[in-house]
Amino acid sequence: MYSVEVSLGERSYPIHIGPGLIDDAELVRRCIPARQVMIVTNEVVAPLYLGRLERSLAADQQHSLVLPDGEKQKNLNTLSAIIDRLVAEGFRRDACLVALGGGVIGDITGFAAACYQRGIAFAQVPTTLLAQVDASVGGKTAVNHPQAKNMIGAFHQPIAVLADTGTLASLPEREFSAGLAEVVKHGLILDKSFLVWLEENMDAILDHDAAALAHIVGRSCEIKAAIVAEDELEQGRRALLNLGHTFGHALESLGAYRDWLHGEAVAAGIVMAAWTSKELGMIGAADCRRVEAVLSRARLPISPGTDVDADAMLRTMRLDKKAGAAGLRMIFLQRLGRAVVTAAPDAALLRQVIDARAAAHDSPGAARRTAAS
Ligand SMILES: NC(=O)c1ccc[n+]([C@@H]2O[C@H](COP(=O)([O-])OP(=O)(O)OC[C@H]3O[C@@H](n4cnc5c(N)ncnc54)[C@H](O)[C@@H]3O)[C@@H](O)[C@H]2O)c1
Ligand SMILES: [Zn+2]
Repeated sequence: MYSVEVSLGERSYPIHIGPGLIDDAELVRRCIPARQVMIVTNEVVAPLYLGRLERSLAADQQHSLVLPDGEKQKNLNTLSAIIDRLVAEGFRRDACLVALGGGVIGDITGFAAACYQRGIAFAQVPTTLLAQVDASVGGKTAVNHPQAKNMIGAFHQPIAVLADTGTLASLPEREFSAGLAEVVKHGLILDKSFLVWLEENMDAILDHDAAALAHIVGRSCEIKAAIVAEDELEQGRRALLNLGHTFGHALESLGAYRDWLHGEAVAAGIVMAAWTSKELGMIGAADCRRVEAVLSRARLPISPGTDVDADAMLRTMRLDKKAGAAGLRMIFLQRLGRAVVTAAPDAALLRQVIDARAAAHDSPGAARRTAAS
């Protein structure tokens, strides 16, 4: 087992990483010591892992709530349903919620924990790669507004994260690759040697080699935890984690949150951010091709697709909620392993990059995506 500490003073907490953690009753009980526990999960994850996690817990009062699957559950009605259940079961302030599932379950459960009685404890048991390397770290919780993703939320740190890498065995290949986009992102923004390691070990990662999985989850958590420890509330440096996300969010939105998985859109977004960085004189074309190569090997799309409407994308990018009062800020690569936050460049330059990337590839990832949808 590998452990990473997220250092946030009295809100510090451990992330434990390794295969089979949900069956380790001693660890589960140490991380989730509350007497009243409610596990929130969904109908896909429950048959796979809920019974195992329940057997490892030893609370006096132990309940579970199994939600339907999908991003559309991340709304205020679901929040209400969780709160109703906590009230009905007489949950006290010292109770603990446990999120067992992907980022959707983690975000809703965390937000319910932030709201119930002005904040109770919660623990994360992430079961997607995206949730293990990204969503379960950093304390952002939210539900969606009908008009905008993640519009209603709170910062609320978990008391512990148990990332059981064994649960990734049942994850669909496309979801696994989507998580890899955030892993590659971590190397690109902060750690060149991790990026090189990813380039050299992608086959082992795709084969679900246990040591390789522990390394990508562990290193990603370390990188994200270090950034979050410096800037918990995203007033500065934490924005670096948004590399590729302004482009990516626009692709997700134009695809009605149906055509692209988040990580797929982020992969194409990272490629566009890399080529924009080249146009801004920061990195070279060979670096951009290297970014494309590592994402491609992770079976991710490296182009917005030939049918993208660059103007619609630019309009959507200006609506991105991360656009501050001072105008849109974006993340670019000063070199591989080092990202910077700067004012967005001219629309004309961005349009040129989007069009060039659309024309350059109809990547294998994009073809697979279309075939799957
Ligand atoms: N809080 C944050 O910092 C943060 C960061 C990134 C993303 N997010 C949020 O996370 C969400 C996306 O998370 P996600 O990609 O994990 O999606 P998800 O939670 O929808 O999970 C993807 C799919 O995999 C299924 N699944 C989960 N674990 C499985 C397993 N072990 N085996 C088989 N199937 C499994 C789920 O039921 C779902 O169908 C978005 O709502 C996004 O806004 C939050
Ligand atoms: Zn992301």
